[in-house]
Amino acid sequence: MGIARRLGALLYSARVEKLSDRAHAAHRIEALRREIDHHNYRYYVLDDPEISDLEYDRLFRELKDLEERFPECQDPNSPTQRVGAEPVEGFGKVRHLAPMLSLGNAFDAEELRSFHRRISSLIGDAAVEYVTEFKIDGLAVALTYDQGRLTRGATRGNGQVGEDVTSNLRTIRAIPLRMQTDDPPRLIEVRGEAFLPISAFERLNEERTAGGENPFANPRNAAAGTVRQLDPRITASRAMSFFAYAIGYLESGPTISSQYEALNQLQKWGFPATRNFELHEDIESVVSFCRRWQDGRASLDYEIDGIVVKVNRFDQQQELGAVSREPRWAIAYKFPSQTATTRLLQIGINIGRTGTLNPYAILEPVDVGGVTIRNATLHNEDDIRRKDIREGDIVIVKRAGEVIPQVVGPVVERRTGRELPFSYPGHCPECGAPVVREEGGAMAYCSNRQCPAQRLESLKHFVSRGAMDVRGLGPQTLEKLVEMGLIGNAADLFALSRDQILSLPGFKDTSADNLLRSLEESRGRSFDRVLFALGIRHVGESVAKLLSGHFQSLDRLRAASEDEIAEVPGIGPEIAGSVVGFFKVEENRVLVERLREAGLRFEMEQPAEGGPMSLKGLSFVVTGTLPTLSRQAAKQFIEDHGGIVRSGVSTNTDYVVAGENPGSKLDRARELGVAILTENELRRLSGED
Ligand code: IVH
Repeated sequence: MGIARRLGALLYSARVEKLSDRAHAAHRIEALRREIDHHNYRYYVLDDPEISDLEYDRLFRELKDLEERFPECQDPNSPTQRVGAEPVEGFGKVRHLAPMLSLGNAFDAEELRSFHRRISSLIGDAAVEYVTEFKIDGLAVALTYDQGRLTRGATRGNGQVGEDVTSNLRTIRAIPLRMQTDDPPRLIEVRGEAFLPISAFERLNEERTAGGENPFANPRNAAAGTVRQLDPRITASRAMSFFAYAIGYLESGPTISSQYEALNQLQKWGFPATRNFELHEDIESVVSFCRRWQDGRASLDYEIDGIVVKVNRFDQQQELGAVSREPRWAIAYKFPSQTATTRLLQIGINIGRTGTLNPYAILEPVDVGGVTIRNATLHNEDDIRRKDIREGDIVIVKRAGEVIPQVVGPVVERRTGRELPFSYPGHCPECGAPVVREEGGAMAYCSNRQCPAQRLESLKHFVSRGAMDVRGLGPQTLEKLVEMGLIGNAADLFALSRDQILSLPGFKDTSADNLLRSLEESRGRSFDRVLFALGIRHVGESVAKLLSGHFQSLDRLRAASEDEIAEVPGIGPEIAGSVVGFFKVEENRVLVERLREAGLRFEMEQPAEGGPMSLKGLSFVVTGTLPTLSRQAAKQFIEDHGGIVRSGVSTNTDYVVAGENPGSKLDRARELGVAILTENELRRLSGED
């Protein structure tokens, strides 16, 4: 342990000692809760965090420790209580304080204009303003706050009565457990959309397919499935988020007379309102907002399927009223969907690294929204059967956001009778071993643990970019190595001799040396990446980070029980079961030991003194394109060295790191006299030239 760390630990325990007095502890606990709530607000509402994830975790851990030492200070609304309660048998029913309405649709600019004409004719001469908001594709929920505290969360249900999903919604960090005000309304119902960001959705599906589970068809289904989970710990593990879009009910609160005010007030109270909402004075401005985001939505990390247009003033909304559960004062402008029809030539099967049979459609190439699509996922056999997809069918394919294209279904009217229904082979197409299906599971597996396709996939995963990142070791070389019997598993890679590499077709002195160097380099990868590289079912990149951060070493992780693992924030019982299962298999234990002997890291590195924390206490803003670091990598670099990255330049900013095409942040830095660095200067400052 480095001196700085040891000192930190000493100071920390000294502080806790002093706090052994309950009153002091209660005080500190409350201060920590407020501070954490504040940072949640900066992160989710303002999208402008003030501290690094690391510092956040440190506050969180301090609070958790104190609450454990002083159980009488526990509070169900403490930020530590989001990890997920015990599973429930079913959901109770909840009557909404006011009905949750649905929306009519507009499909083009003309329909928006006629919506406006209808409104103008109904309310006479008064001017009408509109608010435009993203129509997020998730799940509508209603949150009740009694005296500023979250007491209930419900799904929309049929609009009158929904399901009580409070324990699940409480695990979503973007949903405040307490409103950020000393003077909360007596009772308020906040409405909004719970959703799964696209990145989290893709990660979840990766983990599911690797674990032999059915992937979700789209983020909306994933969000709905997650909120309606009977086990809140699973909800807690899935990085759901939330945007608020309305106040459904308000008792003894401030007077709010328009939607625009409501959204601003919600933000002040600590709710993340739907991003980029705007106020418009006329319908043409609304039309151009809709057009702008039709193209702009690709840059968002969540799916929006349109824009909701609302009359701004509440008195006008009231005057307009509703017909058949749809308000006259709002409409959803729906983006044209990105679909096309094409012929499905054949259904192919990939073997995943855990042995799953993954079917995919080989399509006659077709353009969908400017992208040529040749393949699309088919999920699994049940899905193919349910949709009755046959080889030779004309099918509808759909691209949603940045998600992998999907086959929606066949156009049955265009069948000729020559289409072939599909069924899974009884034997693995790669190794011929029998195919098995887990009871109740949707996926089929190759039963042969030695299946070469499976081995190859796990080797590909092992050397891949996010894992061990062994440069110059592509799929073809791996395939050759396996074929020639030179390697059977990942540990064999590190035992390869120069001569063995030279025996591969196409390898010469230089390329062999390069490969040996890459392998050598990869031995230094951090423990979390090694853990990810092992390819444990459900342990994707982010889960590996959580586990390695918590347990710090493989030995500690291996010694942990299923319950202990499941208690880590962000980890659910499924993952815990899979980790424990992995270490029960003798072959895996041998592999791990051989990798350890090969010099791979099975422990987190402790930050050394001086160097790595050299940017401690400094705040940075990054703008423009840097020569070698991506935006994310620059942020990581600064945080790894103890610095803080913020999104906006202020007088508190110490440095602005600027690259090409820097934009207004650089101007602002100059205005405020903030020091400006190039990437190289940043490296020098960090002591890592
Ligand atoms: S307002 C009377 N605003 O769209 C207005 N809804 O069909 C009712 N949705 O189930 C809803 N984003 O879940 C509103 N910014 C937004 C929305 C939004 C998504 C969903 C909502 C509802 C459906 C309406």
